[in-house]
Amino acid sequence: MSTAANTREPERTAARRFFVETWGCQMNERDSQRLTGALMEEGLLPTREPAEADVILLNSCSVREKAEQKVYSRLGRYRRLKSDRPGLVIGLCGCVAQEAGERALSRVPDLDFVLGPGRVAEIREALERRRKGERPVLTGFPAERDYAFDSISRESSFKGMVTIVEGCDKNCTFCIVPQTRGPERSRGMAEILDEVRHLVDFGFSEIELLGQTVNHWRQPGGEEDFADLLNAVARTPGVARLRFVTSYPRDFTDRMVEQFGRHPNICPALHLPVQSGSDPVLQRMGRGYSADAYRELARRLKATRPGVALSTDIIVGFPGETEEDFALTLQLLEELEFAQVFAFTYSPRPGTAAPRLGGDVEPEEAAERLQRLFALQEPIQRRLNEALVGEHVEVVVTGLGKRPGMLTGRTSCHRVVHFEPDPSLVSGLGSSTVPLKAGRLTSVVVRQAYAHSLLAEPIARVA
Ligand code: SAH
Ligand code: F3S
Repeated sequence: MSTAANTREPERTAARRFFVETWGCQMNERDSQRLTGALMEEGLLPTREPAEADVILLNSCSVREKAEQKVYSRLGRYRRLKSDRPGLVIGLCGCVAQEAGERALSRVPDLDFVLGPGRVAEIREALERRRKGERPVLTGFPAERDYAFDSISRESSFKGMVTIVEGCDKNCTFCIVPQTRGPERSRGMAEILDEVRHLVDFGFSEIELLGQTVNHWRQPGGEEDFADLLNAVARTPGVARLRFVTSYPRDFTDRMVEQFGRHPNICPALHLPVQSGSDPVLQRMGRGYSADAYRELARRLKATRPGVALSTDIIVGFPGETEEDFALTLQLLEELEFAQVFAFTYSPRPGTAAPRLGGDVEPEEAAERLQRLFALQEPIQRRLNEALVGEHVEVVVTGLGKRPGMLTGRTSCHRVVHFEPDPSLVSGLGSSTVPLKAGRLTSVVVRQAYAHSLLAEPIARVA
């Protein structure tokens, strides 16, 4: 430890526990893993109990207004813990940190520091400056980014998330992400493959490539694009399952479709946000594709990879959305039969173009459309899941089930499966009390289907 340690207040050296709460997308999840890794390297230990923590980090999301409001009420709850723990340090991280900056400090008097998504690598500096009595605000996007992937604390024992593209240059008119995550930057292929090999060496079987527009990856200063990267990662020995989120429809090329069809270890699941089924709405959103171009891409993907589970995002009640526009969205959902749909009512965000478009849809109307959308989608999902009844599927165990003795897992197409482990498999692991561990692959037969999950039984094992 450096000489600076001598000047620290004694109680600080006893600050041993931290709690990180994460909201929002996979990028935030991955940033929390980096924050956790850095704090553990500093000698702090994680706790699941905020009341026990000496450092609390809230890794926030600002994509919709509701999520942002929740941040402030949660911070209010954390600051009340300070009356029992005067040394408690509370940091606001994530997209609300970037967006609010100094404002967050005046709004939350006991907030100790603000750390934006572009500055995650500087968590130690933030804590150090706080120790010296400052309330630092670290936001913005430095030109040099530090990935330090060997000090990431991977939460899962089998799924390793690998950032390949940071930020976003698309400027969809509703979206705050380009402001909160900064301009798009691709990481070099050599470094990405190094991280993938590092994960495989440590026993991770599932690799998830991350980016707001993951398929817009380009080799910095080179020719290779996402099709080449996908090919290289899929060929890396030990990569049993490969996923990537989130793909931007307009950036999906024929070469990418081809790679998607070629490698069996690329999971037959693809998240491809469409947002709306109406061309005028898509145009006002600035998405740069038509509903028909999206349909065509979806058809090609389904033809290349039969059984692929497509999922999508929809925004309902975007400014100017008429009943006819909305009917076109419902029609698209009926036609394309998505395995999963993440739908939200439009939420105006500061600094974006959409709030100035006019033609606002009444919140009650938008909420009612959202309900109609769910009512249409639920039976579609149930029907797709019912087609799997009787099928043998391979699941990766993700954790314990809701009921005692049950486990939960995911199929390669990302469906949630609840099942009782095969007793022979359990005892095969050495003890009848040891359940199948998270990260293990096992085969099950689907017995019942619901809209959002499957119920399965183990397959009696031959030999
Ligand atoms: N490329 C990113 C997009 C991040 S935002 C990704 O898909 O991970 C995730 C989703 O949130 C978007 O696809 C969109 O459907 C929704 N969303 C973004 N801004 C929104 C807003 N202002 N109101 C409602 N939903 C929004
Ligand atoms: Fe947002 Fe559009 Fe980028 S949804 S993250 S601006 S692709």
